Parts: sequence; structure tokens; C-alpha cells
Amino acid sequence: MNACVNIGSATLYCGDSLQIVPTLGRLDHWITDPPYEKIMHDSKSGMKGLVRPDGSHHWKPLDFAPIDEIRADVVSLASGNCDGWFIAFCTAEGVARWADAINPSPIKYKRACVWIKPDSTPQMNGQGPAQGAEMFVCGWAGKGFARWNAGGKRGVYTHCVNGSERDGLHPTEKPRRLMAEIIVDFTNEGQTILDPFMGTGSTGVAAVQLGRRFIGIEQNPEYFERAVKRLEQARLQTDLFIEVA
Ligand SMILES: C[S@@+](CC[C@H](N)C(=O)[O-])C[C@H]1O[C@@H](n2cnc3c(N)ncnc32)[C@H](O)[C@@H]1O
Repeated sequence: MNACVNIGSATLYCGDSLQIVPTLGRLDHWITDPPYEKIMHDSKSGMKGLVRPDGSHHWKPLDFAPIDEIRADVVSLASGNCDGWFIAFCTAEGVARWADAINPSPIKYKRACVWIKPDSTPQMNGQGPAQGAEMFVCGWAGKGFARWNAGGKRGVYTHCVNGSERDGLHPTEKPRRLMAEIIVDFTNEGQTILDPFMGTGSTGVAAVQLGRRFIGIEQNPEYFERAVKRLEQARLQTDLFIEVA
């Protein structure tokens, strides 16, 4: 581990989550945006030169390895310390791979939910449909029946990628409002959420603003430092944000 920073109810580690997670105690939920499948990492290279509305580039090389080789280790770690929801973002193609990894574990695979991105990048070469959504799989790692706060709501979440709150440093940043909606639906105030692939900390920002405890791990020092800054800012704004997305 390179660093550990406490910010109010959040603890952020800079280092390899495969080594750090086994040192943590039991916690309530995993809500994480891990590296994508290899197919997505490869396709990002087709977006060179495109610029977002905020001036940042759509294409930045993904400077971390795809999930494929560590997916089983991640599920095994979550099985060992999670008492509630295991939620992981992935490509549509990755859903079955996550289900295949989760099903033999003690986590009960529930289903895949969809994040619709109304402003996602068009297919610039016109040779087929653009990608307009990402998925997240959810499984229940707790005892008894699964519990959430959203009754019979469908697992469909619609949020723009390029909102005014976008930080812009991380190439696969998740919108705060998307993470807030998920956190409100799946978790309760005071519970602890782990994101072992936190990037620049979008899950953590939403978590602390909504009165949850947060543990984040990121291996890249530049993303880690940005996460620290964003969490420090979020902590100051907590009272403004205790709201349902
Ligand atoms: C998809 S990104 C997360 C982006 C994040 N949701 C955000 O909004 O900024 C996945 C992150 O996991 C990190 N990562 C990959 N393998 C890791 C590992 N073994 N331990 C810690 N972090 C890791 C990568 O550096 C990358 O920043």
C-alpha cells in the first residue's frame, strides 16, 4: 500500500485492492466500477480525436488491465467480507461472465441492471449502432432475503455522461447522480460501501454526500489524489446533498 487517507467517514487507500481488501473487516456493500472486459478496452482506441462538450478527450488510453484475469478473485474477495449487495459495472458482453463467476460463489446472483446514456458517443464511422448503455450486475451477499429501498422499481437508470458535474480526469468516470441513485436504492444511511476500483472516487463522493461510510481503493496515484480532493470537497457539501437523486 502506498497511502491511506481518512476524510470524515471515508477511508481511501492507494494500492492494489487484491492485497488490501483481505486486510479489511466485514462491510455492508460492494458498489464498484471495475476495469471493463478486454473487448471494451480495445474499442476505446477507436475514439481517438473526439472531444467532449467540456473540452476533455473521449479517448484516453485505459492505463489499467481489463477485468478478465482477476474477475474470479474479485468475486472471491467479495464473498469473504460483504454482508449486503455486490454491485459491479460491466459491458453488456460482460454480464454473462460476471454471472458465471458469481453463481458458484456464496453470493446470490440477482440480475443485470442497465445504465442508459442519452448523450453517449455516436458511432462515428456509421458502420453500426453506437453503444448507448452500460450494465451493472447485482448479487446479494447477505443473509436471508435480499433487501433494497426501491420496491418494484425496474433496474433501469438514465443519466447523461457529460453533466456539468463531470470532473473529467478519469476516462471512465461515472456520473455522481447515477451513483447516488444506485446508493439510495440499494443501501441505507450509516452503512459502509466499498469500491475497490474507485478511480477518481465518484462512488465515494455520492456515498458521503448521502451519509454512508465509504472505503475506496485505487492503484493509480494520480487518480487516487483526485479522489482525495473530490472526497474532501464532498465532505464539505454533505448537508446540501442528503437528497434522493
Ligand atoms: C473503470 S475505472 C473506475 C472509474 C471510477 N468509477 C470513476 O468514476 O473515476 C477502474 C479503476 O480501477 C483501477 N484498478 C484496476 N485494477 C486495480 C487494482 N488491482 N487495485 C486497485 N485499483 C485498480 C484502475 O486504475 C481504474 O482507475
